[in-house]
Amino acid sequence: MPNFTDFVLETTALRREYRLGREKVVALAGVDIRIRSGEFVAIMGPSGCGKSTLLNLLGGLDRPTSGLVMLDGVNLHDYKEEQLAKLRREKLGFVFQRHDLFPVLTARENIEFPMLLDDQASRLRRDHAMSLLELVGLSDKADHLPDELSGGQQQRVGVARALANDPLILLADEPTGNLDSVSAAELMSMLINLVRGIGLTLVMVTHDAESAAQADRILHLKDGQLEL
Ligand SMILES: Nc1ncnc2c1ncn2[C@@H]1O[C@H](COP(=O)(O)OP(=O)(O)OP(=O)(O)O)[C@@H](O)[C@H]1O
Ligand SMILES: [Mg+2]
Repeated sequence: MPNFTDFVLETTALRREYRLGREKVVALAGVDIRIRSGEFVAIMGPSGCGKSTLLNLLGGLDRPTSGLVMLDGVNLHDYKEEQLAKLRREKLGFVFQRHDLFPVLTARENIEFPMLLDDQASRLRRDHAMSLLELVGLSDKADHLPDELSGGQQQRVGVARALANDPLILLADEPTGNLDSVSAAELMSMLINLVRGIGLTLVMVTHDAESAAQADRILHLKDGQLEL
């Protein structure tokens, strides 16, 4: 479907409530965001303000209570689960705070995993995975299991895997949240250089002001709303 707007990602009055028994938690209270292709947008705000909720909605991992998400011209509301899964696979890369690598697969195999659903020849998959490992500076760790890597290296593999399907948008939720400050700074500069180099759209939740300062824009969330 063609994209009739300039925006690769757009939300309108996006709202997400959670129900816990009789209690209602308003995690997002109506948020309007527009993100252009190639933009790097940082999302900041105190714990519990709705950052992860927002990111999950942007990536079609969760459904809003009301409001819309348009992703590359597609209204996610119109998509069934399988269509959303396909869209995520084809257009999005995710990096989370804790790596979610498969423990029994090597670094290279983890990166190849998202490509298995394409009908690429195994040789091509392997070469692509190796070039991604090189991109994140881990060529020599291809045969290591996640357990045999440091936290920072695991996150690098996670970044490589998120890029494996050549996504349109990368969504990152505190990708350095579990790392010491040196590894965090390294991962962040690698990630930002990569993204800028490819011209990839990046939406990143971060508590790190220094990383956020490198973004084109910072969105500040508070109590489920954007601060102006
Ligand atoms: N599955 C859920 N069920 C009920 N409430 C939830 C659920 N997930 C999140 N919440 C609530 O929604 C609000 C927003 O949560 P969210 O995880 O988006 O915050 P956050 O900004 O990512 O916080 P943090 O910086 O700690 O990761 C919080 O009040 C949280 O308790
Ligand atoms: Mg969060």
